[in-house]
Amino acid sequence: MAIRRIRTEGEEILRMKCKPVKDVSDSIRSLIGDMFETMYASNGVGLAAPQIGILRRLAVIDDTLGNKLAIINPVITSREGEQLATEGCLSLPGYQGEVKRAEKIHVDALDENGAPLSIDAEGFFAVVLQHEIDHLDGILYKDKAESYVKQEAAQQ
Ligand code: NI
Repeated sequence: MAIRRIRTEGEEILRMKCKPVKDVSDSIRSLIGDMFETMYASNGVGLAAPQIGILRRLAVIDDTLGNKLAIINPVITSREGEQLATEGCLSLPGYQGEVKRAEKIHVDALDENGAPLSIDAEGFFAVVLQHEIDHLDGILYKDKAESYVKQEAAQQ
């Protein structure tokens, strides 16, 4: 495994739409390993492939509440309710913002073995999923944020 360079705002790839993963191969599994390592090295709770320069519909998540998974070709198939969450992003270092998200979602995806994943998520897990899936369409949380501010030095 290897730590990859995280792309930050201003790098064009963060604004591009990712293509589906066609074949969940060993190279995709290797990429997933690198993505987890890169995410943990930066204390993130999620990382999407374009954040390390790969234009594929793939993300890894560990919300620290027991939801650790890779999602491949994810699609949000239902949304319910609303929540206002504080978000940050490894591609927007030093900032945070308040974003309105659905409270509950359902996501269909593939896992790292190419098997179907059917995910019911709510609360923080649902926030992380929505944030990462947005990355796959070139959307950053600041685009949707009601506030977007520098983090206090104490929180960094
Ligand atoms: Ni992000």
